[in-house]
Amino acid sequence: MVAGDVSTEPTQAESDQVEFTAFHPAHKADPYRNYGQVRQTRPLCPFMLGDIPVTVVTRYADCEAVLQSDDWVHGYDAGISPFREGNASAPRSFLRMDPPDHTRLRGLVNKAFTPRIVNAMEPRIRAHADRLVADARATGTLEVISEYAAPMASGTLGQLLGVPDDVGASLRGWALAIARGTDPDNLLSEDELAARKKATLDFHRYFEELIAQRRAHPTDDLVSKLAAARDRDDALSETELLGVSSLMVVAGMETSINYIGSAVLTLLRHPDQLALLRERPELLASAVEEVLRFDPPTQFTMRTAARETEVGGRTFQRGDGVLLVSAAAGRDPDAYAEPDRFDITRFHGPTPARRHLGFSVGIHFCLGAPLARIEAASAIGALLAGSTHLELAIDEGELVYLPSLIHRALATLPVRIS
Ligand code: HEM
Repeated sequence: MVAGDVSTEPTQAESDQVEFTAFHPAHKADPYRNYGQVRQTRPLCPFMLGDIPVTVVTRYADCEAVLQSDDWVHGYDAGISPFREGNASAPRSFLRMDPPDHTRLRGLVNKAFTPRIVNAMEPRIRAHADRLVADARATGTLEVISEYAAPMASGTLGQLLGVPDDVGASLRGWALAIARGTDPDNLLSEDELAARKKATLDFHRYFEELIAQRRAHPTDDLVSKLAAARDRDDALSETELLGVSSLMVVAGMETSINYIGSAVLTLLRHPDQLALLRERPELLASAVEEVLRFDPPTQFTMRTAARETEVGGRTFQRGDGVLLVSAAAGRDPDAYAEPDRFDITRFHGPTPARRHLGFSVGIHFCLGAPLARIEAASAIGALLAGSTHLELAIDEGELVYLPSLIHRALATLPVRIS
């Protein structure tokens, strides 16, 4: 199987029915058109994910129902998942575990990853963003992904986990290789699998040492708190601690980087909304949410039927796999008025729009959401406060997305800033 070989573009002669082709490289720039056609005509659409037959779910109500139902699981532990997950070099993170293991680990992590820890990080995160913007203004240009989003994300995770600044940059390299490896294994090339394995080993070697140091000399970072986290007699084992630390980086790095890329590009494409946000900074929190609905960094997630069950009028059997395309659900006209309009006021005021699925819902709801929101608001807030003019420094047609399917990731985003 060639990496990324997950769909072909059927000609009209081959099929009268709309096919799910959003993963085709030609649709990378705009998967939303195809999502919309599929949602309208085949909301539960059969699809070959490489050699795995799955159903693509695109309606908001169906995605939400699956995410909230215990009829649907990951199923790796029970051996029923059709999605092969083979990062044998990594302990499985609780992102892909089911209860009761998921419940236990998430509960222990929740004890350490408290709102107090997260809120205390805000001033440093914002100061970092302000510094990066001031540097960019001095040169007049900013490559948003490598010079803004990546340092913001590695700085934030480094601060959270107590990783010194000089190692923070390595976190991104590791996370990039591991994040590509979060697409189903059968879609990855040999080179990508090898890069993921090397990054995982390097990453673990570093974190094993860090954990040992923090056990011996605790500080107030998350690794020290995780090492100390206890629930009655329960605590995280050494392997679990490693798994949780790496999950934070894998779950929190590329998502945050891609979020910032998406937010800046979307605002540049909607100058009226950009101007409105400059005028009314109180809309920042709503704008952060609207980006997660409109062009979310995590496009879909996967689940497996634990037993015979029904969704959207269709019966699924135990072991059947679904791709829940939350990015398509965000544009569902049954869930949002004028869903293709980017509207930064949508989540503001006494009657905000329905919650988006950008952080998922149900038991796997993003554990880092409060931190992600602070980081997102700081990044956008600092960029607007520190500039009077922003514009794309290349043609739209030159924008390139990385090959990942789950992550919607701009390779670069050069802008002019003054
Ligand atoms: C804008 C940035 C982010 C986005 C869009 C995002 C999105 C998501 C989504 C969609 C899920 C659930 C996947 C599923 O249901 O299968 C998730 C889970 C998770 N995220 Fe985030 N995330 C972001 C930032 C972060 C950050 C900064 C951290 C930590 C520092 C983090 C930690 C986690 C963890 C630990 C989970 C697993 C939760 C569980 O399985 O119970 N995320 N995230």
